Amino acid sequence: MSYDKHILWACTAALLTGWVLTYDNGLCSGAVTRHSCNWTCMHLTLQWPGSFCIGINNKTICKIPQTVQNWTIHGLWPVRTGHCCDCWPIYHSHLQEIEPELTQLWPSLIKGKHFFYFWRDEWIKHGTCAGCEESMGSPLLYFQVAVKLRKLFDIDNILESSGIKTSCDVSYKHDDIRGVLTPLLGQNYDLQCVTDSEGREAWIQLKVHLFRNQTLGCPKQEQEQKFDRLSWFNSTGHPCPKNTTIFYVPINYENPHEPCN
Ligand SMILES: *[C@@H]1O[C@H](CO)[C@@H](O)[C@H](O)[C@H]1NC(C)=O
Ligand SMILES: *[C@@H]1O[C@H](CO)[C@@H](O)[C@H](O)[C@H]1NC(C)=O
Ligand SMILES: *[C@@H]1O[C@H](CO)[C@@H](O)[C@H](O)[C@H]1NC(C)=O
Ligand SMILES: *[C@@H]1O[C@H](CO)[C@@H](O)[C@H](O)[C@H]1NC(C)=O
Ligand SMILES: *[C@@H]1O[C@H](CO)[C@@H](O)[C@H](O)[C@H]1NC(C)=O
Ligand SMILES: *[C@@H]1O[C@H](CO)[C@@H](O)[C@H](O)[C@H]1NC(C)=O
Repeated sequence: MSYDKHILWACTAALLTGWVLTYDNGLCSGAVTRHSCNWTCMHLTLQWPGSFCIGINNKTICKIPQTVQNWTIHGLWPVRTGHCCDCWPIYHSHLQEIEPELTQLWPSLIKGKHFFYFWRDEWIKHGTCAGCEESMGSPLLYFQVAVKLRKLFDIDNILESSGIKTSCDVSYKHDDIRGVLTPLLGQNYDLQCVTDSEGREAWIQLKVHLFRNQTLGCPKQEQEQKFDRLSWFNSTGHPCPKNTTIFYVPINYENPHEPCN
């Protein structure tokens, strides 16, 4: 057996028996890095489907299902320096129990990308680090926690009831949006925007800062920078600028790449 195969076998065996501590203690680290478990903060990253496709270079790659009408989950990301474990397998059947919710709240907006492949990518990239925490110590648990948090931070509702409505004409001051979100999230969030072809700053993501125990908080850390960009298909996301107003654009199912043109 090769070294890699041996590691894979050992990790799988450990996980199948629920012996997650073995993973934590570094048995899987031959295939990973030793930094993947010592994170202290995580980000619940929510994306607005209306603007998601604006920043994507490939102008034919997006598709927003008609059933998607609200903020969706991009991911639940432990803030860490190293890469996570690629030796912790996930199968579609692991998620059967919450698939209807994931389909609604965590869809892939990339044409032809089966939702499960999006979930699997997120698990491999981020979930396997999150899995060091017992409460997220399996694929199902990890996705359940993300869904629970998405429901807890019901921003569709709070935006709607505060009169922040989608529009291609009306834009909002940074402080107007913060004024609505702060009662729900304190200061524990970032707003990210993309610039559309007409120069509008369109709100695309909300990153909610959490401690490892899923409570709000966690000061910004140095090592965040590396993972702070929107890594999706060369999307050009950035922190929403404070010197200009922000557009909360409607979802345009026919032309998601240019919702306002
Ligand atoms: C994880 O541990 C490494 C090495 O001890 C350290 O450099 C890094 O800052 C730690 N990361 C976090 C998020 O604590
Ligand atoms: C853009 O996406 C489409 C799928 O929608 C794909 O067929 C095409 O190869 C992509 N183009 C580039 C340049 O990546
Ligand atoms: C979207 O959010 C609104 C406002 O909270 C809610 O009334 C509606 O049921 C949601 N729609 C879907 C499809 O989840
Ligand atoms: C969650 O973790 C933070 C930071 O470690 C701590 O201050 C807070 O008391 C914890 N909250 C709960 C409910 O355990
Ligand atoms: C992102 O850009 C790099 C360099 O410009 C390119 O090699 C890569 O294929 C692009 N990725 C996607 C998914 O478009
Ligand atoms: C806002 O500030 C950025 C740099 O901080 C600058 O590039 C941009 O042109 C400014 N926009 C406006 C509308 O003043």
